[in-house]
Amino acid sequence: MTVEPIRWKGDALELLDQRELPERTVYLSCRTAQEVADAIRSMVVRGAPAIGCAAAFGVVLGKGSRESYDVLARSRPTAINLFWALERMKKAANLEAEAKAIFEEDLAANRAIGRLGAELIPQGARILTYCNTGALATAGHGTALGVVRSAKAKNVSVIACETRPYLQGARLTAWECVQEGIPCTLVTDNMAGYLMSRGEADLVIVGADRIAANGDVANKIGTYPLAVLARRHALPFYVAAPLSTFDAKIADGSKIPIEERPPEEVTGYRGTRWAPQGISVRNPAFDVTPAELVTAIICEKAVVRDPDRARLQALMSTGV
Ligand code: MRU
Repeated sequence: MTVEPIRWKGDALELLDQRELPERTVYLSCRTAQEVADAIRSMVVRGAPAIGCAAAFGVVLGKGSRESYDVLARSRPTAINLFWALERMKKAANLEAEAKAIFEEDLAANRAIGRLGAELIPQGARILTYCNTGALATAGHGTALGVVRSAKAKNVSVIACETRPYLQGARLTAWECVQEGIPCTLVTDNMAGYLMSRGEADLVIVGADRIAANGDVANKIGTYPLAVLARRHALPFYVAAPLSTFDAKIADGSKIPIEERPPEEVTGYRGTRWAPQGISVRNPAFDVTPAELVTAIICEKAVVRDPDRARLQALMSTGV
C-alpha cells in the first residue's frame, strides 16, 4: 500500500489524520488556511517536509492573503520547512502551481536522499531510527526512513525507538515498516544504549527539523542522547534531510526556536492520565545535536561528511 499523507483536491487539502494511526486510516479535509494551520498544530500532519507541503497548499486555500501567511507561520515554530515554503509561496506568480512544485520537488528530493543514503548502508545492517521520517513525514518516500526503504534490497532491518512522548516511532514508523514489509523491532527509547552496548545496532539514522549553518541539527526530542550513545559505541550517526531543512541564517543550534508542547502529552496519552494533578511538566518537542556528533548529513545533492560551517557553505553555494 502506498502511504499518501497529503492529497490535493483543487479546492481542499486532504490530510491523513496521523493522530489516529495506526488504528484508523482516516482523512481530514481542510478548506481554509486556518484549518490547515490547526491541522499542523494538532499533529494531523507532522514531520518537517510534510508541514512545509501542507502549509503551501494552505496558502492556496487562503488565496495568498496576509492572514493565511500569518496563521500558518504561527502553527509550529521549529521546522524551517514551514517558513521556507511560505517564503517560496510569497514569491510565486501562480500559487497552486508553486504548491504542487514544492510537493513534487520534496518527493524527488526524498528519492535522491534514499539513493545517496543507501550507498552508505552495509549489507544486512541493523538500523536504529527515531521518530517518524517516512512517507508520512514528507511528500512521500521519506528521508531517514526513505534511506532504509531504498536500501531494502540489502536485507536491512530497523530498530524503531518508540519516541516518547508522542510515540511517532511506535505508532507511525512501526506502521510504515509493517506496510512496506521492512523487518522492524520496536523498542522503548531507554533501550537504545543497551542494544548498542551488546552490538545489536550497526548505525543510527534520523531526520531533521532544522539544520543550522554550522551543522547543528534540531530533531525530535531524544535525538541528542542517541548521538551521544552512537559516539560512545563508535557507530555512524547519519542525518537525512532535504535542502529545505537547512537554515543558513541561523549560526548554530542554540538559536533554533524549540517548540514547547502541551503538558498533557507527558502526563498521559489519549485521555489516560498517569501523573498526579499539580505536577509541573516540561515538554520541549525537539533537541539539538551538535554537528561534531554527526557522521554525515545526507541531502538530495550530496553526502556531507563531518559537517561544519565551511562544508555546509560549500554545499549551499555550489551544491557539492
Ligand atoms: O513533532 P514531529 O512529529 O513533527 O517531529 C518530526 C521529527 O522530528 C522528524 O524527525 C523531522 O521532522 C524529520 S521528518 C522527515
